Amino acid sequence: MATVPPVSDAAVAFDRPADRDAAERLAAELGLPVAKKFRDPHGLHLVWAAAGETDHQLELRVVAPGHPLRGGRGVRSDLLKLDVTSPAGRSLRTPLLKAAGVKRGAPRPRVLDLTAGLGEDTWLLASAGCRVVAVERHPLVHALLADGLRRAAVEAPETADRITLPPAQDARTALNQADITAANPPPAVAVIDPMFPGPRKTAERKAMAVLRWIAGDDPDADGLLKPAADAASRRVVVKRPRAAPPLAGCPPTVVHGGRGLRFDVYAGAELEKIRTLHPII
Ligand SMILES: C[S@@+](CC[C@H](N)C(=O)[O-])C[C@H]1O[C@@H](n2cnc3c(N)ncnc32)[C@H](O)[C@@H]1O
Repeated sequence: MATVPPVSDAAVAFDRPADRDAAERLAAELGLPVAKKFRDPHGLHLVWAAAGETDHQLELRVVAPGHPLRGGRGVRSDLLKLDVTSPAGRSLRTPLLKAAGVKRGAPRPRVLDLTAGLGEDTWLLASAGCRVVAVERHPLVHALLADGLRRAAVEAPETADRITLPPAQDARTALNQADITAANPPPAVAVIDPMFPGPRKTAERKAMAVLRWIAGDDPDADGLLKPAADAASRRVVVKRPRAAPPLAGCPPTVVHGGRGLRFDVYAGAELEKIRTLHPII
């Protein structure tokens, strides 16, 4: 069974009175309460915070008293901070793009990003010209991503136009829907980037630590490999910590190294083999 981590202990808040309506709408959409102004009992606030004079941005703040992740800047999807314009940022030699098979002069593959999180991999792929369907199951992470895409679309509308964000749902549910898998041409690549297994590193970025706290360790990640292989016509790319075992114990066709992590690519015979496996529930 696919696990959808619960939204526990969260409320929607707003910094400026002008954002009250937006907060109430979002709270109704997510089935969450609006935070009380004083002595709110919830440990997590999804906050409409000011962004300049006229816009707002969605941030997740840990407000539980004494919690180690409390304080500092809220977590948000900040896609425009990614370097996609310098020569290095545009290079097709970055491990993710190499792993996805993005090549100079060749048509860009359609990509299914099955664990979209705050959208960084999705944005890098879309900036390189790929059409991407971004699937995220955690409702709070999905809300942050939707807002990150909305804000990034103002500066980079062509990149944002290449991205489709279906409603929050598990990737296995999404892959059963024809409008996600039956595109023409069909998706060539599926990307899986579950939470890294094993003990937390103390240097883990705060955004990732908060994400891990609310979304969990993705213990069902092995079960994504076969549905991804069934859905992608050419390859599946799995992001792993450098020393972690391969997903579901399946050896990849080729590995591309990144900083502290690696991208396992399943193609050809290895992809075929995964398609013959029994589903891991
Ligand atoms: C490590 S983060 C992904 C980070 C992302 N690649 C990025 O560049 O920002 C993993 C995310 O995948 C989501 N996730 C894990 N399993 C999923 C599944 N079966 N379906 C949809 N989302 C999933 C988690 O909720 C979490 O937000």
